[in-house]
Amino acid sequence: MQTDSSFTFVLFGGTGDLSMRKILPALFEAHRAGGMLADSGKIVAVARHAADRSEYLQWVNEHVKPHVSKNGVDEAAWASFLKRIEFVKIDLGNPDDFALLRDAIQDLPGIRVFYLATGPSLFVPICHALASVGLNANARIVLEKPLGYDLKSSNAINDAVGEIFAEEQIYRIDHYLGKEPVQNLLALRFGNALFEPLWRREWVESIQITIAEELGVEARGDFYDNTGALRDMVQNHLLQLLSIVAMEPPHSMDSDSVRDEKLRVLRALKPVDPRDIGKVAVRGQYHSGVIRGTSVPAYATEPGVRPDSTTETFVALKVEIENWRWAGVPFFLRTGKRLADRVAEIVVNFRAVPHSALGASALRAGANRLVIRLQPNETIRLYCLAKQPGEGMNLASVHLDLAFDQFFREGQMEAYQRLLLDVINGRLALFVRRDEQEAAWRWVEPILNEWKASNKPPKPYASGTWGPAASSAMLAQHGTCWLEEEN
Ligand code: BG6
Repeated sequence: MQTDSSFTFVLFGGTGDLSMRKILPALFEAHRAGGMLADSGKIVAVARHAADRSEYLQWVNEHVKPHVSKNGVDEAAWASFLKRIEFVKIDLGNPDDFALLRDAIQDLPGIRVFYLATGPSLFVPICHALASVGLNANARIVLEKPLGYDLKSSNAINDAVGEIFAEEQIYRIDHYLGKEPVQNLLALRFGNALFEPLWRREWVESIQITIAEELGVEARGDFYDNTGALRDMVQNHLLQLLSIVAMEPPHSMDSDSVRDEKLRVLRALKPVDPRDIGKVAVRGQYHSGVIRGTSVPAYATEPGVRPDSTTETFVALKVEIENWRWAGVPFFLRTGKRLADRVAEIVVNFRAVPHSALGASALRAGANRLVIRLQPNETIRLYCLAKQPGEGMNLASVHLDLAFDQFFREGQMEAYQRLLLDVINGRLALFVRRDEQEAAWRWVEPILNEWKASNKPPKPYASGTWGPAASSAMLAQHGTCWLEEEN
């Protein structure tokens, strides 16, 4: 991908965790690859924890360099990358400081991107301060999640930002949309004739989407304890994946065609009736346990977490989509921290054949199943039935495997790299539009409200397991179970 679009990439929160682990490493990778970033493009870091550019570059050397390139740093590329970086010391609480930013960037070329890698409470003040010095015109603004705490607070942020930036200037990041395998899901569904005819209620019995993590809350106890898994993972990543799995074929891959179709799915989600919450939603919280041979502590003893916290670190849901394609097909979603494995995958369970001429072993061997694994390795596995060798007609489940790294050895791109390049190049398709975000909040809110009102604690689960037993019981009621395979 060659580009000549010049840019000034202003990074608020320039010494924050996200800048250190994701944003600056992603920009470095794009720089190192060559041809992806215009030579004249500049990165302007904004922070207050560094005195000047040389102190900031020292911080970048110490803290960012360890996060780039797993296979060792290309020193020449690193040195030329540092030349792109400028620094402006600003106290974000002081709007007058923004004149310093304006002066620093006014002669820099290209499109201006303002990346807000800060807490959400700063989004609106930063936008106002940018507007006060005229920096909002023709610029793009990138907002990180969490964008609000519920529908009302997310609307408040969107309304305020929307007074300063038009919707097509706003890039709301959901990093799952930048992952290669999620892109591949679109390719699988809409680039092949094979699956689409079967991708509907007549042939699909149920669908599972899992995002399981081995990590706990790490150093984010304060944030997480006021957030929980439903807001942190379901409202955004899981509902985005669900909408891509379930959407109708878009007319084209332009940003609004794709987002319109995703929105239709989000709007068709069957609202959760508070009286049914126990049947369709399970919330859990991790206790101590063992992960890969190491003892790990209970959530309630993590730094920053209240000892009597009722915040959920695990959620399992049964979701229904009220449209012709999916009526009656349960979608089971789950996510959790400190689970048995780190895996993100989509499992499509097809119906059994309508009549088995092949006898009882065919029924026992199960039905077709497509497993699209997004993490830790990108694979697609299609389970089929085959005859076992030897006498008689005994069937067994076998699988066809597609491991992407065997086909494509090069060119893999991290989610942030793809998304940042999209911002610089003005491609909005992989960013969440306001109406999608609102529809997602609208759907999760009754669950949040009901959990809060009922005041019941989440169900405990031992770290290193697959969550509370109630999660498996929910699926058992539908005659199915979570697919839990070894990596
Ligand atoms: C983030 C959540 O959005 O996604 C984290 O805030 C979570 O809690 C992370 O750990 C998971 O992302 P990934 O790409 O590691 O699966």
